[in-house]
Amino acid sequence: MSQFIDDDREMPRFRVNRKAMVDPDVFAKERDEIFDQVWLYLGHETELKKPNDFKTRNVAGRPMIFGRDAKGAIQVWLNSCPHRGAMICREPAGNARFMTCFYHGWSFSSSGQLVAVPGDTSYGPEFERPGLATPARVDSYAGFVFISFNPDVEPLVDYLAGATDFIDLIADQSEQGMQIVDGTHEYSVKANWKLLVENSVDGYHAVSTHQRYFEMVMASGVELDGAKMGQSVALDLGNGHTVIAGGPDTGGIFGRPLSEAGTAEKKARFDAFRDKYGDAWVDRMSGSRNMVIFPNLVIIDLVMGVVVRKIDPVSPDYMEVTAWELVPPEEGAELKRQRLDNFLTFWGPGGLASPDDVEALETCQRSFASHRELPWSDVSRGMAGEQHPSGSEELQMRTWWRRWNEFMTGEVLPPEEHLAPAAMYTAPRPSLPAQQPTA
Ligand code: FES
Ligand code: FE
Repeated sequence: MSQFIDDDREMPRFRVNRKAMVDPDVFAKERDEIFDQVWLYLGHETELKKPNDFKTRNVAGRPMIFGRDAKGAIQVWLNSCPHRGAMICREPAGNARFMTCFYHGWSFSSSGQLVAVPGDTSYGPEFERPGLATPARVDSYAGFVFISFNPDVEPLVDYLAGATDFIDLIADQSEQGMQIVDGTHEYSVKANWKLLVENSVDGYHAVSTHQRYFEMVMASGVELDGAKMGQSVALDLGNGHTVIAGGPDTGGIFGRPLSEAGTAEKKARFDAFRDKYGDAWVDRMSGSRNMVIFPNLVIIDLVMGVVVRKIDPVSPDYMEVTAWELVPPEEGAELKRQRLDNFLTFWGPGGLASPDDVEALETCQRSFASHRELPWSDVSRGMAGEQHPSGSEELQMRTWWRRWNEFMTGEVLPPEEHLAPAAMYTAPRPSLPAQQPTA
């Protein structure tokens, strides 16, 4: 048993020590041993529509600039002036061929070169003109741009392992390429960041935490099919990535856009998908999915749309969250309206789901003040029995925690053995061109 994880296969029992959620030394070590080592989500290429567009955001505590140069190529910079450190860009977003540091006025092009230094005759002839600094690695998969501060990190596609399959299931939902809608949700939670990671793939909490939501849905006349809703599996995707995957058309329960149930437009899109991809892959597409890409990227394709959520640790008991909506641009206005409405009213910081979750996580964090008296949280659900764990069990969290523990302690805990899930959850993508890196 490590100081953090009690993974006892005989019992069977899996417990997480709450010290992991409160200890500043653990927090500092996570920065060094996890966030400085792995691939981290920066943003989606479609957030930058034109040459010289840029966004600023933090990754692993570092202010970053995510932009396109004058030719439209993706560029990623550390938002720190190589002169004496002022942040070169203090705007959240914009379009600029040049950025001028407000401290002493050094100017940089959108491809990162230093192009003007006020009073530069007072520097010697050998003065090296430093450009903007980049993270060690930048790569993308199907439009999702990742960076790493570790020059020796494995290739992104290897790192993503089985998660590529589930990114493909989302990317394939548009002929034109899925696009991020302008605008974000930004909110903070007074809780450790790992609690939201757990919550994002926690099917167990839905009915009790979100009771009001289900009551509201039923009051609106929608018949919730309990058998279909329970039809989901938890999968270990490798490298700490994990997913709850719904069976065919589980996504359609709420009348969501990606469902054959409903309007002619939805049916027409499905017919086209079936012609292109075949039934097995399209049946998977029509299911729901809640995925965590280790350590802190969440992609949820559930209810009325696809939410991309980046979780940023700020201190042991505080996190910041940014969320975006990913849509197929070719969809009609009414489906777009429904997706955006749901993004706001369900997933938004004042919506039907997120405040319930935030309340749950913040009470966990407050209670962790007694972590010495009550040190262990139980995450064992679904360890017993021969069947494949369902989405309401806790294999997802154990998968993620084992990877976390490996980075933090060096201790390798083998994956759990379960029966393979039914083929409908794992049918391979037909042999079409793979999703390409596009950065
Ligand atoms: Fe940027 Fe001096 S710190 S120009
Ligand atoms: Fe929830």
